[in-house]
Amino acid sequence: MSEHFIFDGCDTVELAKTFQTPLYVFSETKIKEACQELREDFIEKYDRVRVAYASKAFNTLAMLRLVEKEGLCLDVVSGGELYTAIKAGFEAEKIEFNGNNKSIEELEMALDYGVGRIIVDGLQELELIQAICKEKQTTANILFRITPEISVHTHEYISTGQKDSKFGIPLDESILLPLIQQAIEAPELDFYGIHFHIGSQLAENQTHLAAAQVALDLVKKIYDTFGYTVKELNYGGGFGVRYTTDDIRQPFAYFLDPLMEKTIAFCQEHKLYRPTIVIEPGRSIVAEAGISLHTIGAIKTLPGIRTYASIDGGMTDNIRPGLYHAEYEGILANKYDQAATEKVTISGKICESTDILVKDIVLPPVETGDIFATFTTGAYGYSMASNYNKIQIPAAVFVQDGQAELVVERQSYAQIIQNERIPKHLQSGET
Ligand code: LLP
Repeated sequence: MSEHFIFDGCDTVELAKTFQTPLYVFSETKIKEACQELREDFIEKYDRVRVAYASKAFNTLAMLRLVEKEGLCLDVVSGGELYTAIKAGFEAEKIEFNGNNKSIEELEMALDYGVGRIIVDGLQELELIQAICKEKQTTANILFRITPEISVHTHEYISTGQKDSKFGIPLDESILLPLIQQAIEAPELDFYGIHFHIGSQLAENQTHLAAAQVALDLVKKIYDTFGYTVKELNYGGGFGVRYTTDDIRQPFAYFLDPLMEKTIAFCQEHKLYRPTIVIEPGRSIVAEAGISLHTIGAIKTLPGIRTYASIDGGMTDNIRPGLYHAEYEGILANKYDQAATEKVTISGKICESTDILVKDIVLPPVETGDIFATFTTGAYGYSMASNYNKIQIPAAVFVQDGQAELVVERQSYAQIIQNERIPKHLQSGET
């Protein structure tokens, strides 16, 4: 019998049998290791710093509970993410609310819960928050998200800090300074500071450093113009992970030490109070902790062209290849010890030509029934899953030291249609 791939002490072939495929598998140990690295190399190393896990990467009750236990704060971007966080037992004070178009209902919900920070994306939102606060006789702790006009080396679709962006407030003093003045003067607002997020899956620290310079210059400008001491800077997330052997996974310290050194040096030089520094990593906490398991079904060989091995899922559980040309690596979990000799393309079962999970991967001879394990699917896999083709959202399990716990049940067909209704005039007998 062939050797099986073991993940955090669990036989992945057994996991596939027990929980069926497609299946998201998360190593609790690996998530905890990332949190520990952040605690040791950032939270405990520096005074007045915070890590808010960007929950969009993987936002479920179990994950948020774990992150809270690990001592992190949380970043949410919608009423749904906020709701999940509260249900997971997150203290509202530790939650930061981002987003470029928060609805009135979402802002009211955030203020009713008493979230720790609201990251404001523009004047319209600022005025909305002021009006809600006045009505509710409450105050909001706010930061402004700026567009630092830094172009980054990543896929265009996940780059957010450039001038032409739907996110953030442009770096134009005639726009920014009046906004900041309004925030400083409004009794219902507590102005904390400045936020940026320049993009995702970044391998180099230079762009964060360039953006930090922009934010620090602004801290000085705000002090010089209004005599106001900025209390907090949020440097966003975006730290890259290893999807393939071509990617470099830098330790958190590679980004954070130079950022802290720069911040501390700037504040010393200009005799400014050093603001609290917040970061918002999502992918770098959970991506590498997750794998996906699929069963190989139909195998089709086009002579002289390629062999397609189709899995029982695809872009509905991992849209990243189709959306960003993201590359992945994987193995046959049930043939872990067998030599890789055959080139195949792993395709999904969704009716889209872009539904290719991994193009031209070399594996042991592939047969129907094999279990294909894709690495580094912990971030933006489950969270971007869809019901396209009415395919069920897969289950997710947490594994740790050989133990597996279901954290998301597989959706049923009944659940897929549970919100659908047939209008009266189409019900039987009527036209
Ligand atoms: N903070 C803000 C304001 C963000 O917009 C994001 C990501 C993060 C933090 C976390 O970034 P991370 O550390 O995870 O890179 N679906 C895409 C990624 C979109 C990220 C959007 N914002 C993907 O699958 O690559």
